[in-house]
Amino acid sequence: MKVRKAVFPVAGLGTRFLPATKASPKEMLPVVDKPLIQYGVEEAAEAGLDLMVFVTGRNKRNIPDHFDKAFELEVELERRGKTRLLEMVRNIPPQGVGCAYTRQPEALGLGHAVLCARPLVGDEPFAVLLADDLIANNGGPGCLAQMVDVFERHRGSVLAVQEVPREATASYGIVAVEPVDERLGRITHIVEKPRPEEAPSTLAVVGRYLLTPRIFPLLETTPRGAGGEIQLTDAIAELLKEEPVYAYRFEGKRYDCGSKLGYLEATVDHALQHPEVAEGFRAYLRRLALE
Ligand code: UTP
Repeated sequence: MKVRKAVFPVAGLGTRFLPATKASPKEMLPVVDKPLIQYGVEEAAEAGLDLMVFVTGRNKRNIPDHFDKAFELEVELERRGKTRLLEMVRNIPPQGVGCAYTRQPEALGLGHAVLCARPLVGDEPFAVLLADDLIANNGGPGCLAQMVDVFERHRGSVLAVQEVPREATASYGIVAVEPVDERLGRITHIVEKPRPEEAPSTLAVVGRYLLTPRIFPLLETTPRGAGGEIQLTDAIAELLKEEPVYAYRFEGKRYDCGSKLGYLEATVDHALQHPEVAEGFRAYLRRLALE
């Protein structure tokens, strides 16, 4: 079965980015000129997915507004002859992509947010993208497109992983794997936010998942775990007792835009490649380095 639907949990509190996230989800933070959530939607569309399911929380309005038709803006851009901008605005979301919205009434954790999407996903494999993990693969296929390829070849759930320093394991879900090939492993064990001395490896799950619908009944019975939240990792630990679950070392660079430092790195790297500002920004950084 083809993967068609992408779930975007955007109901987190985003406490690390207060006050910016007081009235707006962190996924609406822009990197140069595009909100994080739009990078995620474009990555999913590039991977061939055509329904974006947003699980929104208390600040629910800006995301649907962003992906809705902006009638007045379009009329005004047309009147001013700004065709390039008009084209850009009309492509949010990309052509052929639909959007659906549901609510997570309380921020009970990522696992709970994914479960809230069940009525819209139904009984088919689906992707989960955490848009605050921005993944760039300059020129090459996006992270999710790579994972869809793995899914089609191996017919099992796939999690994107990367090596992290041992002292950072307590910020991630960590997996132990049996190698399949250079980039792929079959997960034998997964644990959420282990202390460095207890982590089974330094291979960390980042914000891209391709899951079979079997995850939903498992999430229904997942008790609160680390941090008192219903953890997706805990349901995946049950899933791998029933089905193969793969860890895939993606090609590309991940920016943790949920943290201020990661967000700044993403901004600098993207600015240095942005056709409008790259040259001026590079000159500014040079001047700064010489001061
Ligand atoms: P994070 O662990 O980054 O938490 O969530 P957070 O609340 O958004 O941010 P901080 O740590 O307080 O700064 C990972 C992803 O899961 C979503 C978030 O929106 C983010 O995309 N999430 C988390 C939900 O949708 N609901 C939740 O209950 C928790």
